[in-house]
Amino acid sequence: MKNTINRQWWKEGIVYQIYPRSFQDSNGDGIGDIKGIINRLDYIKSLGVDIIWLNPVYESPNDDNGYDISDYQNIMGEFGTMADFDELLQGMKERGLRLVMDLVVNHSSDEHQWFIESKSSRTNPYRDYYHWWPAEKGTPPARWSYFDVEGNAWKYDETTDAYYLHYFSVKQPDLKWENPKLREEIYKLMRFWFDKGVDGFRMDVIPFISKDINYPELPASYNGNFVPFYADGPNLHTYLNEMNKEVLSKYDVMTVGEAPGVSIDQALDFVDEDREELNMFFHFDLMALDREADEVFLMRKDAWKLTEFKKIHTDWDVAFAKKGWGSMYLSNHDFPRSVSRWGNDSRSFWYDSATMLQTFLLSMRGTPYFYYGDEIGMTNIRFDRITDYKDINTLNRYETIKQQGGDTAAFVENEKEASRDNARTPMQWDDTQNAGFTSGRAWLKVNDNYKEGINVESQHTDKTSVLNYFRKMVQVRKSHLGLIYGDYTLLLENHEEVYAYTRTFEEERYLILLSFSTSKTTVKVDEINFKEARLLISNDEDQAEILKRDPTFKLKPYQAVIYKLH
Ligand code: NOJ
Repeated sequence: MKNTINRQWWKEGIVYQIYPRSFQDSNGDGIGDIKGIINRLDYIKSLGVDIIWLNPVYESPNDDNGYDISDYQNIMGEFGTMADFDELLQGMKERGLRLVMDLVVNHSSDEHQWFIESKSSRTNPYRDYYHWWPAEKGTPPARWSYFDVEGNAWKYDETTDAYYLHYFSVKQPDLKWENPKLREEIYKLMRFWFDKGVDGFRMDVIPFISKDINYPELPASYNGNFVPFYADGPNLHTYLNEMNKEVLSKYDVMTVGEAPGVSIDQALDFVDEDREELNMFFHFDLMALDREADEVFLMRKDAWKLTEFKKIHTDWDVAFAKKGWGSMYLSNHDFPRSVSRWGNDSRSFWYDSATMLQTFLLSMRGTPYFYYGDEIGMTNIRFDRITDYKDINTLNRYETIKQQGGDTAAFVENEKEASRDNARTPMQWDDTQNAGFTSGRAWLKVNDNYKEGINVESQHTDKTSVLNYFRKMVQVRKSHLGLIYGDYTLLLENHEEVYAYTRTFEEERYLILLSFSTSKTTVKVDEINFKEARLLISNDEDQAEILKRDPTFKLKPYQAVIYKLH
């Protein structure tokens, strides 16, 4: 049967995410910058990826490392200038790379001119760019804040005797999308970047933009959890549709929304092509798998089951099988390193599990997103002391626990596996001082294991490195359309050690076997005629050749293998 597919560059592309602060410093101030990225473009191209997603590089006081923007149309001084940005874009175009930027418009910085105006008086023309609650109405109904020591999203401001809303830190006041003037400002800034040639936006907490401006009490149906409530505002889809009509539809660009709080049954409302809103979004089901149900930042290290992991991916594949399109990720700047979290970063399993996870992302339907450093298997740094951390989330939570007389030592243990700073340590380029990231003092400590082979230079020349496996696997995906568009079928559903599936596209069929186990496993896949299996790639090719002579597949710990079936 012929599959009908709607081919798009953003479906076929592989995304490489760069956290600019940590990628490459070019001027010795210890902070990554745009010139540093320019110097590494040939490396990025050598990976075979197609699209760079750049975390925010706009002017910002850095309360939340650039997610608090004080000028949307300027570049942060620490990162360089607009001329540097233009040079970066130019350098990318020359190499056939596309650029996706971060659009952070649920909130701005409190140092943005709009907010400075807004808070100056109740009658200021910018007053209605933000959410204000006049104090004479009493205390506003409870709203929870991610980055507030007291967890309170309302901050009292004396100047006008009113509270403003901030779902994130006090320095990140929420923008009021209900005001059409504000929406027009945002569309204008989006056009500014698109007119420069930017190829898309990753949209920060985009489901949070619409709010009920009567600010009711949290409805009982949300069961004490603010996140799904925040993601379900009354005009959300009207705004996204308007944004599409006003801006997105006029350019050849891609959009991927960050979508905490969005459930699978709401998925198509965002990405069904006929609704003309977004192309893709990041769901959070996997990110919640190893966390406490009511505490997104508390880790249950290794308490997840492979059957749950499979179910999440299988369910989401089904959700987008006919309409919409998925986005596949295992890590980003908000979560720990993928090999430390989903694989095993001990010396004996590090190579196999890092490459197995790469094989997984690159053999699923949906656009794969890789976070810088995952191509060389970078791992969690696991700081022992709270003073080593820089992340507002870790620092504020520590403060909350301290104020409540809680167990701060247990929290520091938790952060070794959970903190966002695990994923923000500088890129490991070589085995010189600071891993070649900076000639100065790195803003966040470099992981010492750059001296033990976790660096680009040593892996580049080693044929059997994580890096070169990544490059090879990228080419395998790119040269087999079936691995991109093919139907996905889960096999061995109840197996707790092996994730097995097929991808089928027209005449092509592939079998993917991924061991998530530290022991050897043997699996029998009844649906497969093993004699037909031709090895496409494995992180242990000798082993993979031997095992297919038998109707059982014998997998080594964390072995990954893809066979072409016909
Ligand atoms: C999600 C971003 O990914 C995260 O880094 C940031 O802290 C919050 N949104 C607030 O912008």
